[in-house]
Amino acid sequence: MAIILGIESSCDETSAAICIDGQIHSNIIANQTIHEKFGGVVPELASRAHQQHIIPTVNEAIREAKIHKNAIDAIAFTRGPGLLGSLLVGTSFAKAFAMARKIPLIEVNHMQAHILAHFIEDPKPAFPFICLTVSGGHTQLVLVNDYFDMELIGQTIDDAAGEAFDKTAKILNLPYPGGPLIDKLAKEGVPRFQFPEPQIKGLDFSFSGLKTAILYFVQQQIAQNPNFLQDNIHDICASVQERIISILLKKLRRAAEHYHINQVAIAGGVSANSGLREGLDKLAKEEHWDAFIPRFEYCTDNAAMIAIAGYYKYLYNDFATQDIAPLARWAI
Ligand code: KG4
Ligand code: ZN
Repeated sequence: MAIILGIESSCDETSAAICIDGQIHSNIIANQTIHEKFGGVVPELASRAHQQHIIPTVNEAIREAKIHKNAIDAIAFTRGPGLLGSLLVGTSFAKAFAMARKIPLIEVNHMQAHILAHFIEDPKPAFPFICLTVSGGHTQLVLVNDYFDMELIGQTIDDAAGEAFDKTAKILNLPYPGGPLIDKLAKEGVPRFQFPEPQIKGLDFSFSGLKTAILYFVQQQIAQNPNFLQDNIHDICASVQERIISILLKKLRRAAEHYHINQVAIAGGVSANSGLREGLDKLAKEEHWDAFIPRFEYCTDNAAMIAIAGYYKYLYNDFATQDIAPLARWAI
């Protein structure tokens, strides 16, 4: 039997999870609401909040899994990519815990973990599959050959998809993080405004032009009608969301065609978006794909995905040493 404690602290959620023989028994997430009033994550505040949250979050994960901390066989932590100060808290905690309890330490790449979240529950994708990983900091198309054999086949050349949601929300005077709120408002809107689709070759993405187009459009409309935003917020959100989704799914389809693969998955915070989930399901039917969409709680940042990634590394005896340091940037 293998009991793995997973720790996630790469951005603004402190999370701890317990994985027992590949099954998640707890997944505790402490959100940091302090950033809302600043309209984005403030790194210094994030790392301080991680310091406050980490021990209670781990205790809660152990309690909920109904195990004793002495039973933990290994501790897995997010080494990167992410905010360095935030990563340092999780890394230091994991190193201290491993040293004190004399158990192995396991480093996990956050972007690999988003993809490995697909191995928490059934149905699981078969290798090789293509995963579209869309989060606040990344937009990647990944060819997944095996648990830790992943090839980056496309990525954003500027903003990430989550950033496109969050920056649009700012333009629309909506609070941070904008993604979930745009998703909610879009449900009651009609996508009647046309925003441009970037013409980027191959499997790469671009979102910065869209953001600028939305900004100019909103400014022009407000000049004519000062209440434009209030009067049309649902339709604007529906239009923006539809365009972001069409950009993402177009490249996903292109990747599947190019690699002749019909196992297709989405991961990362933006995969919680209801329009993207519906869009992928619809496209999968048309294309005869098997589509894999994680449960909501495993889309946004969570330690269950770190614990499951740690579990597979544990099976491979792939352990880290005490001199390990976090990495703000780390290729998949
Ligand atoms: O994976 P994640 O939790 O953190 C990073 O690793 O970045 O992703 C956070 C991103 C944010 O940009 C947030 O606005 C977006 O995911 N997001 C959503 C939704 N839920 C979270 N975007 C669109 N629709 C959602 N429902
Ligand atoms: Zn993430």
